[in-house]
Amino acid sequence: MPVEFLGIAATNDGSETTPRSGAAFDKDYTLRLARAHEDYGWDRVLFAYGSGSPDPAPAAAYIAARLDRLQILLAHRPNVSYPTFAAKTFATLDQISDGRLTVHFITGGNDHEQAREGDILTKEERYARTREYIRIVKQAWTSHEPFDHEGQYYRFHDFVSDVRPVQQPRPGVSFGGSSAAAYAAGGAEADIYCLWGEPLERTAEQIEAVKDAARAAGRTDVPRIQVAFRPIIAPTEELAWEKAHRTVGAIRARRGSAGARRHESGVTVAAAPENTGSQRLLAIAEAGERYDRALWTPTAAATGGAGNSNALVGTPETVAQALLDYYDLGVDILSARGYDLLGDAVDFGRHVIPLVREEVAKRDAARAAATAADRATGSGAARAAHLAQQPLAAVRG
Ligand SMILES: Cc1cc2nc3c(=O)[nH]c(=O)nc-3n(C[C@H](O)[C@H](O)[C@H](O)COP(=O)(O)O)c2cc1C
Repeated sequence: MPVEFLGIAATNDGSETTPRSGAAFDKDYTLRLARAHEDYGWDRVLFAYGSGSPDPAPAAAYIAARLDRLQILLAHRPNVSYPTFAAKTFATLDQISDGRLTVHFITGGNDHEQAREGDILTKEERYARTREYIRIVKQAWTSHEPFDHEGQYYRFHDFVSDVRPVQQPRPGVSFGGSSAAAYAAGGAEADIYCLWGEPLERTAEQIEAVKDAARAAGRTDVPRIQVAFRPIIAPTEELAWEKAHRTVGAIRARRGSAGARRHESGVTVAAAPENTGSQRLLAIAEAGERYDRALWTPTAAATGGAGNSNALVGTPETVAQALLDYYDLGVDILSARGYDLLGDAVDFGRHVIPLVREEVAKRDAARAAATAADRATGSGAARAAHLAQQPLAAVRG
């Protein structure tokens, strides 16, 4: 299956290494960054959510109206809206974008950050609410008849939406989290399950946990898997490692002058993170700096495991091969974001994406040929013979 690439749709040029140069919502930069993704071969961009950050939904509508192909992944926290209202916002956005919307439902991994917008539930309760919320949104998208809902968190009667999504039966549902409660909720409801980049072995464990949760929920399909990294690329390995060390130095320097940055991002940077995903990143960083082909953990350690923070360091060829290792593991969507958001989106799109796509096309063609040969001979012998000639990493289940 073709691989997809997810980039970032920031509303200003600030990052972990650089203070933003203008307003939190910089309209020109927002468009320039999204356009660079569209022009350089990316499939989709994530509009993230933070309590104090610009509202991503109208920002996404702005981009959708200006660009033709780029797809949108809109982060949304259930606590900030009623599900019927949100379903209409999403359906309208799917109309504006001619069917390019996927919604990323965020449960919230930090109590203090959630309480900033009035959410005082525990994390376990938040996951239960998210699950109920997603079900309501799905029903509101697809139901042509008025319906009632009597749930733990929501209760309403006689609702039917007059605005339909373009995508039928409905837009995609994306979900992230690394706790057991996250696997259970996302395994049951998500079309796309998002993970932060970890070593291959740990990623494989998480993929299995998501698949187990999907099966436990009675599904016959499984969510597509997305994994996120911070690539640091340069023309030679040596230059890439120099850049990596410079990057981590800049992150540490910027975290040293903390306060302003916290308000810019709108997300609390807790000393000890409450969310399992960040705890895993810190434990992995503690256990080692380098994993597999190119994974480098000091960027995660320097940010306190703040979200997508593990780097892939090397030449475009090395980073492309590292990404292919994840594809071979069963990852369908590769998410990447640099530290110079605009420049890195262009460089990655120009130098890494074509390499990965080309290799994925070769692997897919080889697999299709092996399957056709199997059908012709009526046995698995042809596939077995083909796989015997492949490096182990090329064997994708
Ligand atoms: C790819 C991805 C993107 C995310 N985007 C956001 C975001 O924009 N805002 C936010 O508050 N949380 C975001 N999260 C956090 C999760 O949705 C979730 O609330 C958190 O990871 C729960 O923690 P857990 O690992 O303990 O289950 C994101 C997670 C992933 C994997």
